Amino acid sequence: MRWTTLLALALAAPSGAVVRFHCSQLVVTRIDPLVNPGSIPSSHVHQIVGGDAFNATMDPKKDLPAESTCTSCQMSEDFSNYWTAVLYFRAQNGSYKRVPQLGNNQFEKANGGLTIYYMQDAIYDQTQKSKVQAFQQGFRMFIGDVSARSLQDAARFRQLTYVCMDTWTMRAPETMAFPTRKCKEGVMTSLRFPTCWDGKNLDSPDHTSHMAYPETGTFESGGPCPVSHPVRTAQVMYEVVWDTKKFNDLEWPKDGSSPFVWSFGDATGYANHADYVFGWKGDALQRILDAPCWFNTNCQKESNSKLQSIDLMNKCTQKSIVNEDIDGWLDSLPGGYQADHGHTTV
Ligand SMILES: *[C@@H]1O[C@H](CO)[C@@H](O)[C@H](O)[C@H]1NC(C)=O
Ligand SMILES: *[C@@H]1O[C@H](CO)[C@@H](O)[C@H](O)[C@H]1NC(C)=O
Repeated sequence: MRWTTLLALALAAPSGAVVRFHCSQLVVTRIDPLVNPGSIPSSHVHQIVGGDAFNATMDPKKDLPAESTCTSCQMSEDFSNYWTAVLYFRAQNGSYKRVPQLGNNQFEKANGGLTIYYMQDAIYDQTQKSKVQAFQQGFRMFIGDVSARSLQDAARFRQLTYVCMDTWTMRAPETMAFPTRKCKEGVMTSLRFPTCWDGKNLDSPDHTSHMAYPETGTFESGGPCPVSHPVRTAQVMYEVVWDTKKFNDLEWPKDGSSPFVWSFGDATGYANHADYVFGWKGDALQRILDAPCWFNTNCQKESNSKLQSIDLMNKCTQKSIVNEDIDGWLDSLPGGYQADHGHTTV
């Protein structure tokens, strides 16, 4: 009976085009080898996942799988580093408290961190139509703008969003600004990176211009890449679940604004941003992207890739090399920032 069901499923489910996996928290610290290389501390607090070779300085020539002793990611050949800023709650007395993270849906036992997607086609498209090129050693990219404070600023980037989750699996509607109401189960941020590569530069001075969006349409609609950036890569997406539940009992701003503030002071939410440093072992990512597989299986069988348990993921952590309080009730955000609502006063 069980076999019949599995076989029926296997026959019915067309080859999918998505891999989804979780990475537990490696460290929460003020380090940023991409934007502030060498700075200890960097400008603002981040939450980082992936290989434990993460450091304030990361030479693109170094082989991360060889430099790391473990990874906090479920795909055990992935020693990349993925990171975002962290969220703070601003109380009515002006003090800040860090909002912790949760494991995502189906990864509830994970210690915080974030969920990673690599897609060849639209997430809901169950047929693998496209072949996409994996990134390579030394590749890095960034998405978003830390100085964005308006919808117009944020609209330059596609799909950097928030969901105010009333249920654990709620994924819509998405907004580009912080939620202004209490969310029963927490807040999810989603970040989708651009998908067209210039084919030459592993990085660029602003960490974004070597990548571009499709010329027309979107990655999901199969939009073609511009001639300047002709190589179609995977769509990388992060999902981060912020555990805002305990802040629902506190007083919220009376003017209806959001009490949330990014660790660099943005109180609008428009400066949602993320960093990516590629570090997959050998051709492991290309193998996964070429395999016809569906995300619930994580392509383990189809691509001959290895998974590790959530227990092992949770064990891969790093001690912060910055000695400061980031978790108490704070008068200002680490690095000295205050909430910036972006209103221009005349
Ligand atoms: C980070 O870099 C410093 C300086 O090069 C080094 O001493 C330290 O061991 C590195 N940490 C890790 C986790 O690799
Ligand atoms: C500010 O408010 C928070 C939340 O009520 C409280 O826990 C904290 O102790 C307060 N801080 C100060 C400096 O009063």
